[in-house]
Amino acid sequence: MSQRIARTTLTALALACIATLGHAQQGKLKVGLMLPYSGTYTALGVAIENGFKLRVDELGGKIGGREIEYVKVDDESDPAKATDNVNKLIKRDNVDVIIGTVHSGVTMAMAKAAKESGTVLIVPNGGADAVTGPMCAPNIFRSSFSNWQPAYAMGEVAAKQGKKTAMTITWKYAAGDESVAGFKEGFEKGGGKVTKELTVPFPNVEFQALLTEIAAAKPDAVYSFYAGGGAVKFVKDYAAAGLNKTIPLYGPGFLTDGTLEAQGDAAQGMLTTLHYADGLNTARDNSFRTAYATKFKLQPDVYAVQGYDAAQMLAIGLNAVKGDLTKKAEFSGAIEKAKIDSPRGPFTISKSHNPVQDFYLRKVEGKENKLVNVAVKGLADPGRGCKM
Ligand code: BEZ
Repeated sequence: MSQRIARTTLTALALACIATLGHAQQGKLKVGLMLPYSGTYTALGVAIENGFKLRVDELGGKIGGREIEYVKVDDESDPAKATDNVNKLIKRDNVDVIIGTVHSGVTMAMAKAAKESGTVLIVPNGGADAVTGPMCAPNIFRSSFSNWQPAYAMGEVAAKQGKKTAMTITWKYAAGDESVAGFKEGFEKGGGKVTKELTVPFPNVEFQALLTEIAAAKPDAVYSFYAGGGAVKFVKDYAAAGLNKTIPLYGPGFLTDGTLEAQGDAAQGMLTTLHYADGLNTARDNSFRTAYATKFKLQPDVYAVQGYDAAQMLAIGLNAVKGDLTKKAEFSGAIEKAKIDSPRGPFTISKSHNPVQDFYLRKVEGKENKLVNVAVKGLADPGRGCKM
């Protein structure tokens, strides 16, 4: 072998060694799952984790060439514990990425910690408008929605249906307040008027006095934000008071997603708006639903889709940097440019890192939130206050 060939061979060997070493040094990808595993939002946390893990399985158990190690924290949907909980993941467990959470108040505490530490955060539900508003950051993405989005869509639908007055009833925290604000914006732009805003503290489910007030006021419609266990109780109480016969109950789809088994007759005929629906009947959604049902012996809901898409977004970013999360700008840039092939339908990410997506009008029929039509196409959150 000539000296030149020998030198070239040695250089190639050295480069190969460095590449292998680089990969080995990256080791496992530590993913912190901070989700509710107790309380009214438990089912939502479980569905998000299931969806995320389904996508990881489909990718052969690796993301960006790295095996996954999970660290789980039950956030209990408790904002008072949120900062401690997220800091356990960031400072004690040294996670590479955080996926979480459901509750808007907890999500905001997580976004603050992620922004300060630079840890990648993908929010698979928590709709707090601020997360992709004033709190926006290059390392924070959402695979779900802002509270404004489905609410604004429902406001438009209610106005188009000719409703003139509406009362609102929600939990008193960011998600409820912002949902009502979004509904009001869409409804009042279309000529309607929100006449009264009623609330109960989160996660209370004592609705009787407020339902009596609604019955006496007789608005054309009621708009409500509840989810999980609280949504089950509210929809049943609304029907038990006989209000479903006289005043249509509208809401973002959380009011009836993943809850129909328990709500039964009480939810029949309800109209809601959301970025997912039963009966989309696309090849992408059908294969997702079959895979989910086979693996978990459950039907997927919007929360499962959001978890699944959080894993898809993470994979897009990590593949672009070959698993090397120190390349932060390339990681974020890849997600920003992507069209995500979601079971909900393809979506892109806005400048403030929130999905730009279609909102469906759905009607409850049996145990399904059946697709009626696309209420608003390609709806982007305004991203008010985001400077990036
Ligand atoms: C929220 O707190 O942002 C939220 C919780 C459950 C469903 C939808 C939104």
